[in-house]
Amino acid sequence: MKNSVRAFAPATVANVCCGFDVLGFAVDHPGDEVVLTLNDSREVSIAQIIGDGGRLPREAGKNTAGVAVQSYLQAIGEQVGVEIELFKNLPLGSGMGSSAASGVAALVAINHLMGNRLTRKELVPFAMEAERIACGSAHADNVAPSLMGGFVLIRDYQPLDVVKIDVKLELYCTLVHPHIEVKTSDSRRVLRPIVSLRDAVTQSGNIAGLMLGLTQSDYALIARSLKDVIAEPVRSAFIPGFETVRSAAIQAGGLGCGISGSGPTLFALSSQMDIAERVAKAMQHEFANHQLKTDVVISKLNLEGAKII
Ligand code: HSE
Repeated sequence: MKNSVRAFAPATVANVCCGFDVLGFAVDHPGDEVVLTLNDSREVSIAQIIGDGGRLPREAGKNTAGVAVQSYLQAIGEQVGVEIELFKNLPLGSGMGSSAASGVAALVAINHLMGNRLTRKELVPFAMEAERIACGSAHADNVAPSLMGGFVLIRDYQPLDVVKIDVKLELYCTLVHPHIEVKTSDSRRVLRPIVSLRDAVTQSGNIAGLMLGLTQSDYALIARSLKDVIAEPVRSAFIPGFETVRSAAIQAGGLGCGISGSGPTLFALSSQMDIAERVAKAMQHEFANHQLKTDVVISKLNLEGAKII
């Protein structure tokens, strides 16, 4: 049996405007990588983390990759020793599913080493446990698409019902990451606990419209549906220039633009690569007007999810 493996898990855009905690998609790049090596210790340990500037916990029980592996091994009833090396390519607190990608890469690697005993969908709960460690909330809208690829709907949490959406149309994602950090735990704390009936109606219409737009390859319907009346009105206060950056993305031809996960990264979806590039320039320009430096990624969707490399 092979005793060492390397895995990659992609960044993700959670919420996708109208699907707070219930919808996310994976992009082709960037993503996090892990190398897992089995040993005789009967314990899970973190050997090294590269790329986090020393900020992530080195204790396996407090680290998303470590927790994911521990909870997986416990569930399948194996007590093997595992050493984890984590290569962080995703910035922390960026809204690109950084904590999710580390946990997912580790899970896909350990599942491979154990003979792929569980399906990708069956791995979702262990990745959610890792999310709980990272930000205090076991939401699945980053981990499920990072594991399964494409657009994934979390139809319900109790019991968990995860559905991959069959998307055939071309979509390009622009991610613009302003150089500020927003912790998911902080940006969840500011959310209003009660939603008005009017907002619930608007949000339901938009999420249904987005699902139909994606499955029926209807760009105009997707564009009309990429709106969020629940999280964005509160969270946009964390992101200087949010309104003008979003307007610039849409004026440049983007189908829609919103906060990626809990921010501060903004995402935009476009029907063509050259539009996605124009959108990126327009968004960067507007952020610069607000004295914010940015990093940009333009990526196709990732349809397969995390993989062994
Ligand atoms: N749905 C989660 C949130 C995603 O918006 O808090 C966090 O990346």
